[in-house]
Amino acid sequence: METQSHHLDHVRAALPAVRQYAYLNAGSSGPLPEPAIKAMAHEALDEAANGRIRFETFFAKKRPAMAGLRAAFARLLDADASEIALTHNTTDGVNMAVWGQPWREGEEIVVTDLEHEGGVMPAYLAAKRFGLKVRTLRLLDAPPSDAANIVDDGLSHRSRLLIVSHVSWANGARLPLKEIAEAAHARGCRVLVDAAQSAGAIPVSMRELGVDYYAVPGQKWLCGPEGMGALFVKTEAMDALSPTFTGYFALSDQENAWDCFGRMVLASDARRYENSSIYFPGVFGMLAALEWLESEVGWDWAFGRIAHLHAYARKCLAENPRILIFTPDEAAGLLHFRLTNDDDPEAVNQALVTRGVRIRTIPHMRCLRVSTGFWNTEAEIDALAAALKEILG
Ligand SMILES: Cc1ncc(COP(=O)(O)O)c(C=O)c1O
Repeated sequence: METQSHHLDHVRAALPAVRQYAYLNAGSSGPLPEPAIKAMAHEALDEAANGRIRFETFFAKKRPAMAGLRAAFARLLDADASEIALTHNTTDGVNMAVWGQPWREGEEIVVTDLEHEGGVMPAYLAAKRFGLKVRTLRLLDAPPSDAANIVDDGLSHRSRLLIVSHVSWANGARLPLKEIAEAAHARGCRVLVDAAQSAGAIPVSMRELGVDYYAVPGQKWLCGPEGMGALFVKTEAMDALSPTFTGYFALSDQENAWDCFGRMVLASDARRYENSSIYFPGVFGMLAALEWLESEVGWDWAFGRIAHLHAYARKCLAENPRILIFTPDEAAGLLHFRLTNDDDPEAVNQALVTRGVRIRTIPHMRCLRVSTGFWNTEAEIDALAAALKEILG
């Protein structure tokens, strides 16, 4: 216990933002760690002072940082670095996996009622362009343990792509992805996962889950900057997924990979989905955040702490009769609750802000959501519970 609290102090000391207020909203954006802040500042200042036209740094430093970042995402996801494309956010990865499918008119794209705009909007737009049907599976009111059966019953012989969250932003449910992927694959349907609320919140293994695509943001549970993310594309699923946009980072390393007479040899790995110039302070910041999480924080410790604080928050808030928790037991780092007196969730949220506690509302669910980060303390959860007691009366 002593060592653990010492480690927590050490971790919190590297996160300036968590010392400003009870930072309970990693589901929107995580706090930036000092090493990431320094790496971004260093790169931005170096570019400003010394210019961005030094090709020697581009080849000696910047491109290797991109490779290092793909490798770091791969370690997090238990995947091969060749299966990682760098993206700008979750939605970017979802778009890549949706638009690159070999669509034929009349096919189905399947979503669920647990999804975020970032999961469904690319599907709606692609459906318009390609003449697809969108089918929505109802998982919101079902226990997560039924999800694979619902997928099995809900897909048809025309279903080609299922888009599903690993952990839902709408109710916090953690879905049994391996079983879902098996059910979908048995029907010839590929599986694209919105990993916005799972990557960095729970342990994940691409080798075990068997999904085709896994779209990860950098800025949430991974404590990276905005504008950085990754898309995992399973090796076996790569040939069926075409790149939609392209640019020089997607080229093969071989000489003469392109010319102006129609020649274009794309990378044989997932770099083929990447595009062109990228904000390098973001690359260095993301890499520093992932390395800090891996070597200073420790993933096992972080995942254990997120789960422990989730359970602690559940217990503390459940004691308040004005609060109705509806996140199922199969959860990760998100806890959702409604107010039994029909108080306005946003007014309650604002009242929490004035008391130094930051969570958020999910408007279409008319609820509030607490994200328990590994940096949070039990005292902060106690403060949240006490503040809610005071506000709700
Ligand atoms: C489940 C889910 N999907 C997608 C997004 C959008 O994320 P991004 O900004 O990384 O595209 C969010 C959060 O904003 C989310 O919670």
